[in-house]
Amino acid sequence: MSSILSAVAWPYANGPRHIGHVAGFGVPSDIFSRYMRMAGHDVLMVSGTDEHGTPILVAAEAAGLTPQELADTNNAIIVEDLTRLGLSYDLFTRTTTANHYEVAQEMFRTVRDNGYLVQQYTLSAISPSTGRTLPDRYIEGTCPICGYESARGDQCDYCGNQLDPTDLVNPRSRINGETPRFVETNHWFLDLPALADQLSEWLDGREATGTWRPNVIKFSQHILEEIKPRAITRDIDWGIPVPGWEDDPGKRLYVWFDAVIGYLSASIEWARRCGDPEAWRRWWNDPDARSYYFMGKDNIVFHSQIWPAELLAYNGQGLRGGEPGKFGVLNLPTEVVSSEFMTMEGAKFSSSRGIVIYIGDMLSRYQVDAVRYFIAAAGPENQDSDFTWAEFVRRTNGELVAAWGNLVNRTAAMVAKSFGEVPARGPLTVRDEKLRDDVVAGFDVVGHLIAQQRFRAALGETMRLVGEANKYVAETEPFKLKAPEQRERLGTVLHTLCQAVSNLNVMFAPFLPHSANTIDAMFGGDGALAPLPRIEHVVDPVNGNTYPVITGDYSAVPAWGPRPVTVGAPVAKPTPVFTKLDEAIVDEEIARMTARGQA
Ligand code: MF3
Ligand code: ZN
Repeated sequence: MSSILSAVAWPYANGPRHIGHVAGFGVPSDIFSRYMRMAGHDVLMVSGTDEHGTPILVAAEAAGLTPQELADTNNAIIVEDLTRLGLSYDLFTRTTTANHYEVAQEMFRTVRDNGYLVQQYTLSAISPSTGRTLPDRYIEGTCPICGYESARGDQCDYCGNQLDPTDLVNPRSRINGETPRFVETNHWFLDLPALADQLSEWLDGREATGTWRPNVIKFSQHILEEIKPRAITRDIDWGIPVPGWEDDPGKRLYVWFDAVIGYLSASIEWARRCGDPEAWRRWWNDPDARSYYFMGKDNIVFHSQIWPAELLAYNGQGLRGGEPGKFGVLNLPTEVVSSEFMTMEGAKFSSSRGIVIYIGDMLSRYQVDAVRYFIAAAGPENQDSDFTWAEFVRRTNGELVAAWGNLVNRTAAMVAKSFGEVPARGPLTVRDEKLRDDVVAGFDVVGHLIAQQRFRAALGETMRLVGEANKYVAETEPFKLKAPEQRERLGTVLHTLCQAVSNLNVMFAPFLPHSANTIDAMFGGDGALAPLPRIEHVVDPVNGNTYPVITGDYSAVPAWGPRPVTVGAPVAKPTPVFTKLDEAIVDEEIARMTARGQA
């Protein structure tokens, strides 16, 4: 048993999140965490809303709200959506807690005192017409590395390189097109070159394990080649005050410097809320603990370079040495698990053009496990993937309903009709044993695949076994075993099927937790196979704010392995677990999208 930190990217609280966001890291990290708990590990799954930075500021301005009001509104929506999706966070919090401020400032001070921060004057962009600072991502221009014409001042979305606004050729404001004026300003920089050797050593060690997705490790090593100091403060009035510069309301920590610290601060908050304030150390100080970071590919650099650099600097493990601060020597990521992008009906998600499906909307119309199934089966795990309504209908009806739903329903229906309870079995034939053994063997195969974050393959293997069970029904034809002298054989076949369904349901539980509970109850269980998260309203002990968090008790999970059925457990006539979708929804949804785009 190991301590496993499941660190899930923090969604920006600048608006409700869409299906592409949860496809990249939300559902995958939940499948992983649920499986790891069932495999007996001590999992801590943390995240929260990312509430600082320019995106929040800009959205607040547009809505006529303060940044905090805007963040409060969206935090509440996101918490609600992720809870409905069944994401089993131990703590989903936010970056505007007093605790997060304290932890971020402690990191900053120790990193500075260890010598890994340097002050430098830089050029900062100002909007000539308003006189205000133009944030990096609101400047657009041609990428000096690849020539892409719509690169942003912080990053080129085409080649993935990090940029500074002054790197851009022909810079212009994305707000009004004017050419920014650059003025001198003082900032703290993270001295990445003083950490480069250690970062490289760490990455080489990670590469040697062979467990990272190849594109992630290659990209991470590649960006080390051109490493240079990176500004971690900004000319902005929304964010965490910079230690030592508290009196300057116009300077704040850079949102990415503090956001990644959220993994640590959320772990600390979780421990305090549990009444065991030091408990977080099991995931952060124990060198045997493992940590898995889940995100979309635009976040790789922050998790495979910036965050590890902050940790090495905090630990005093770079070129300049130093001493760890009060949190002790902190673990670097074990794995950076990044997904690719999801598009929508062939186009990039875009809230402004209406090319979007928000989580809340989707869950108000479709079954949550149908959404989770689609994401796990067709999400952007290793390559970009496209969400289309036609494909959503096809996967739901053709796979979830027709294969797994059908197996569950016909099994329950036959059992209900002939016995009303899980029947006892007589002697097993070779055919019965084959189904039993095939399904049991699935635990190893599927478990290994999930542990390697190969969720699509894991789900595919589980569905293959569903196919085996459906084949077994076709071959043994229990619906024809009607004569009184065939009753024992009928019991054996249906018992074998109940057992297969029970075992497959355990295998599906990380993917489809809600229906796992329904199916468990259908076959006489207590319907609590897969624990679900809940929202709790908590009080910030320092500033007195009340805010919602996602949390839950996930300790009562079944072990990852066969789950014997109970002979005599009542089985009633079932109602279908999964709802077949009407083909008409494809046109309806596309019409909705078009209407939104025109609004
Ligand atoms: N808010 C960022 C995004 O949506 C992700 C931040 S991940 C964090 O791209 F851990 F650094 F917070
Ligand atoms: Zn580029």
